[in-house]
Amino acid sequence: MIREYSETVPVQYEDGIARFMEMDILVDPRVFIPRPETELLIRTVVALCQDRSLLCPRILEVGTGSGIIPLGVTRLLPAAGVLSVDISADALDVAGRNIEKLGTGGIELLQSDMFGSIGAELEGTFDVVISNPPYVSDKDYAEADAWVKAEPMKALRSGAEGMDHLKILAASGGRFLRPGGFISVEIGYDQAGKTKRLFAEKNFTGIKSFFDTNGYERVITGWKHG
Ligand SMILES: C[S@@+](CC[C@H](N)C(=O)[O-])C[C@H]1O[C@@H](n2cnc3c(N)ncnc32)[C@H](O)[C@@H]1O
Repeated sequence: MIREYSETVPVQYEDGIARFMEMDILVDPRVFIPRPETELLIRTVVALCQDRSLLCPRILEVGTGSGIIPLGVTRLLPAAGVLSVDISADALDVAGRNIEKLGTGGIELLQSDMFGSIGAELEGTFDVVISNPPYVSDKDYAEADAWVKAEPMKALRSGAEGMDHLKILAASGGRFLRPGGFISVEIGYDQAGKTKRLFAEKNFTGIKSFFDTNGYERVITGWKHG
C-alpha cells in the first residue's frame, strides 16, 4: 500500500518515532526531529575523545531536545558522563522518556537557559562542551517548508543571522571546560567562517571544521588552551 504523506505534518510526528543511529527515538511536536548531520557531530566528538584516550569523558550538552546527543555518545562511549540541558521543560520530558527507554546510565538532565543554571562548582570540569543549537536565520526561516515550521520555533531560530546561540556557546563554553578540553558545535551550511572567527576571538585553538556528505562544513571544534 502506498502511504500518503502530509505536506504540513512531518512523518516522524505522525508516527511518534524518528530513527537515529539505529535507535527508535520518541518524538512529538514539542521537540526538534533528529537530523543525519547530528550523527557527524556525535561521531566527531567520540573520535576526538578516543584519539586522546578519553574513554570516560565528562560532557556538557546544551540544547538536548529529544536527547539524541547523550544517547548517541553513550552508545559509542558507554563510560561517558553527560549533563544535558535545555530551556524547554517539554523537550526535557521527551528526552527523559528516551533516556529511560534507551539509555544505559550516565546521563543527567537539567532545565537551563544556555549555561545559566549550571552550578559554578562545575566550571572548569568538563572535557567536552557539545551542542546542536538553534541556528536558523530569519531569512532561512521565512523560506522554510511547512514541515520545518511544524517544529518548535525555539529549537530553530537564533536571531537575524542564526548566530545568537552560537555566540553564547563561544563566549561561555570555555568557562565550563577544563584546560585542554574542547568545544564542538553543529552549524548551518553557511556559518563556518563566522563560527570559526567567534571561536578564535574567544581564544579557542586548533579550530577545525568537519564536512557533511553534501560537502558543507557542519561541525566546528576548538580547544581550550591547556
Ligand atoms: C536544533 S535543536 C537540537 C535538539 C537535539 N540536540 C538534536 O540534535 O536533535 C535545539 C535545542 O536547543 C534548545 N534551546 C533553545 N534555546 C535554548 C536556550 N536558550 N538554552 C538551552 N536550550 C535551548 C531547544 O529547546 C532545542 O531542544
